Amino acid sequence: MNYKITSNSDMDTIELAQNIESEKFPNMVICLEGDLGSGKTLFTKAFAKSMGINENITSPTFNIIKEYEGELKLFHMDVYRLNEVKEDLGIPEYFKKKGVTIIEWADLISDILPKKRLDIKIKIVDENKRIFTITPYGEEYEDLCQRVL
Ligand SMILES: Nc1ncnc2c1ncn2[C@@H]1O[C@H](COP(=O)(O)OP(=O)(O)O)[C@@H](O)[C@H]1O
Ligand SMILES: [Mg+2]
Repeated sequence: MNYKITSNSDMDTIELAQNIESEKFPNMVICLEGDLGSGKTLFTKAFAKSMGINENITSPTFNIIKEYEGELKLFHMDVYRLNEVKEDLGIPEYFKKKGVTIIEWADLISDILPKKRLDIKIKIVDENKRIFTITPYGEEYEDLCQRVL
């Protein structure tokens, strides 16, 4: 079961992030997949703001993981430049730290992702149009999707 959502603007993507954020819970994991410029970081910024994080969210491409304090902790990862050092960063530990983890380019670490998670694939249609394919794995995520999508 998945949900297809069309976004026609930054604002649509921001609203989608806010809707999902409204149902956040500790140890939530959101896996973002999509080409450069599809909106992964924009989605994360909107989610973070909605969590009460005022700090500016920047793409953690070079340091891979950034941590922010909000209503829950936010662990923002961008694993694009991650290669064989995967284990050294202890990424799986973050899934148990009671925060929310959002991973850009999550498909690159599919072997270490938790079974229960929310997958969000973003397809670029044109300059402003994106198609989001959202797939929940596990009951909590299925319920969340039913409530907000
Ligand atoms: N519907 C849309 N949803 C998300 N981003 C959009 C949309 N339309 C245009 N954009 C633009 O696409 C870019 C997405 O950039 P970014 O979030 O950094 O992508 P990524 O992190 O996937 O590389 C931004 O400049 C944003 O304004
Ligand atoms: Mg990005």
